[in-house]
Amino acid sequence: MSSPDQLPVPDLTAEFWEGRYQEGTARWDLGQPAPPFVSLLQSDAAPKPGRMAVLGSGRGHDALLFAAQGFEVVGFDFAPSAIADATQAAATRGLQARFLQRDIFALADEFSQSFDYVLEHTCFCAILPEQRPDYVRLVQQLLKPEGELIALFWAHSRPGGPPFGAPIEVIQTLFAPSFVGSFRLAADSIAARQQEEYLARLRRR
Ligand SMILES: C[S@@+](CC[C@H](N)C(=O)[O-])C[C@H]1O[C@@H](n2cnc3c(N)ncnc32)[C@H](O)[C@@H]1O
Repeated sequence: MSSPDQLPVPDLTAEFWEGRYQEGTARWDLGQPAPPFVSLLQSDAAPKPGRMAVLGSGRGHDALLFAAQGFEVVGFDFAPSAIADATQAAATRGLQARFLQRDIFALADEFSQSFDYVLEHTCFCAILPEQRPDYVRLVQQLLKPEGELIALFWAHSRPGGPPFGAPIEVIQTLFAPSFVGSFRLAADSIAARQQEEYLARLRRR
């Protein structure tokens, strides 16, 4: 398969992502929660605890950050190693988060309007660009009517992927018909993502 700019793209199956965890090439893994989420939770604008879905939750660093703040968190990922590692980390830290092995695109029926929040961090850039409209629809289906997407979007402009970048205007245009809210450049991204990450807080229209 090729990306729109014709760079080769791997087949982005669960086996592909599982292989990355098993080979030790999960270079996206920060080994800690994303700093912009830490700052958000320490700020006056911190979201109030509620039921939260974390899409493509990986080893669970972000999910466990919110769980430690009282959120009722369910992490979803289709790579079994990621689910096992996140589940183990929750147990080790005595946190209540659940991690379920699922394809996120098959969640809508099981979890329709189940969450106050959806959390996004490097899952949107891990899917194929042509899956983005399905991702927007999925978030809309998972959230309760007043629910909120809290997202850290990696809007880099390098070709190919994963991670697939996109100008932030393209991401805003995708969400605009069904969500309203704010996008702001994250102030405290890790060095490799500075000036390229946007923290978004979007409510269903
Ligand atoms: C780039 S990693 C990011 C993981 C985590 N959010 C982090 O920042 O460490 C993308 C994750 O999404 C998962 N993923 C990709 N497509 C998925 C899908 N369709 N359903 C479930 N998980 C998916 C992968 O297994 C992988 O763990």
